[in-house]
Amino acid sequence: MELLEWDARAYDALPLPHKRWGPATVARLALTGREAVLDLGCGTGRDAEQLLERLPDGRVVAVDGSQQMLERLAERLADRLDRVEVVRADLRDPLPLDAPVDAVVSVATLHWIPDHARLFENVASVLRPGGQFVAEAGGFGNITAIRAALTAIGADEGAGIWNFAGVAETRTRLEAAGFREIEVELVPDPARLAAGEQFEAFLATVVLAAHLRGLPAAERRPFVHAVVERLPGPVVDYVRLRISAVRR
Ligand SMILES: C[S@@+](CC[C@H](N)C(=O)[O-])C[C@H]1O[C@@H](n2cnc3c(N)ncnc32)[C@H](O)[C@@H]1O
Repeated sequence: MELLEWDARAYDALPLPHKRWGPATVARLALTGREAVLDLGCGTGRDAEQLLERLPDGRVVAVDGSQQMLERLAERLADRLDRVEVVRADLRDPLPLDAPVDAVVSVATLHWIPDHARLFENVASVLRPGGQFVAEAGGFGNITAIRAALTAIGADEGAGIWNFAGVAETRTRLEAAGFREIEVELVPDPARLAAGEQFEAFLATVVLAAHLRGLPAAERRPFVHAVVERLPGPVVDYVRLRISAVRR
């Protein structure tokens, strides 16, 4: 499948729960300030910016597949790009890094990657022994109400779009990929938005971007509206998969 482009400006303008998930995930990293940290699915660079503050003598490797997201990141970090390696790459493939990193962080990205066993092997292959991997993403049970609404309007409920993994399978895959000290949990974390325009913009930009890509422009708003009409309220019923592990 072709990589999805994101509307980076619309994305950044939204009241994203990612703005809490990012700092909470970065805070789980134990850093001295000298490390090289890989941000997997870095988006517009919000978390990379925060990482740079914790890495006065370190650097960030920012990887994403979306050109628009990376352009916005380069704007945001324009005065610090000497400490940022920006890499456009498909996370379904081996990571094209020149040197190993000391830690890996990932926010709201893993559920876009269909094969987690392979992804964790790829992460392990660029992470130094003893290096930390912390991540959060949509997990098993994520956006169940939205998927039911998609089914109700005869649309793709997303089994081929998202990979909402559970705790046991994630733990098994991390062990097999070479991680120890594995902690995995699923945490319901619904996000309530303002009804109407804000909720519809959020769904269009963040949750239903892959669905809308295949539709003519004139059909996009009616599609989002049809989903909203089948939901009990302006809530995205997020369930987050939180991961912490150390490379053996
Ligand atoms: C919901 S955004 C999260 C971005 C950022 N971490 C944040 O919290 O705002 C998901 C990101 O994953 C990236 N992504 C999804 N699938 C990808 C793939 N196969 N290869 C590379 N990047 C991918 C998207 O381009 C997007 O920037």
